[in-house]
Amino acid sequence: MYITINKVPINYVEKGETVALPVIFLHGFPFSHEMWKAQLDLVGKTYRAIAYDIRGHGLSYVGDGQYTIEGHVDDLIALLDYLKLEKVIIVGLSMGGYITLRALERNADRFMAAVLCNTRSEADSNEGKLKRAAGIASIKKEGSARFAEEFVKLVFATETFRAKPAVVESIREIIEQTPPLSIAGTLLALSSRTDTTPSLSNIKIPTTILVGEHDTITPPASARAMHENIPGSELHIIPHAAHMSNLENPDFFNEKLLTFLKRVASKNS
Ligand code: MLT
Repeated sequence: MYITINKVPINYVEKGETVALPVIFLHGFPFSHEMWKAQLDLVGKTYRAIAYDIRGHGLSYVGDGQYTIEGHVDDLIALLDYLKLEKVIIVGLSMGGYITLRALERNADRFMAAVLCNTRSEADSNEGKLKRAAGIASIKKEGSARFAEEFVKLVFATETFRAKPAVVESIREIIEQTPPLSIAGTLLALSSRTDTTPSLSNIKIPTTILVGEHDTITPPASARAMHENIPGSELHIIPHAAHMSNLENPDFFNEKLLTFLKRVASKNS
């Protein structure tokens, strides 16, 4: 359903009882809340599971294609205000994790626990920035379908193409439906994000870090570095998965997620 936050229409969905402990899911780039469908159904059985399309993605507002991670944090906080949620458990994958890490730095009091999935705290290297620039040039020239074709090769493990072709197709379709303007604008936003590493040691809430063993975009080494810096955090390396670990190995992912939520819930009841 559409709601208006920061004066623009944002598409959001929720499952579960409104009085239950709230868990908000932030998707990666260039996907939509649809990537969390299985987790929303599962988590919504016990908790209030919320997901939304980040500006420029899914059914949310595209606008002029100029985005920043800072603006995405503004939208997240405005959504929490709209829903009158003082504190939530936040689950962010990749770009959703970048937004989460900046939100934890800026608005720490709004979160009671965090799940950082396939993400990293470091900003882009020069090499990474040049790759984003090449991506922007290519999306403008060749469009979303061609971008999707190349992007799925980067985010899924080789074995997922064989074992779960329908999952790969569903993500390819989401990317194909994302306008080139949004993809180009988000690449620029990702490339200009800040490095949140210096503030990891200030994270004082329960935190779990999940990463696919074959992830090359946000590799296990980056997850380990976050784990070493976030006091009391847990780290789980997900077998048979690359960057889309919740879709590639949902059994493992869901088990770790639900165990963590149960632990957080027991402390907050
Ligand atoms: C994502 O999944 O959000 C992106 O791959 C993140 C990135 O490219 O840095």
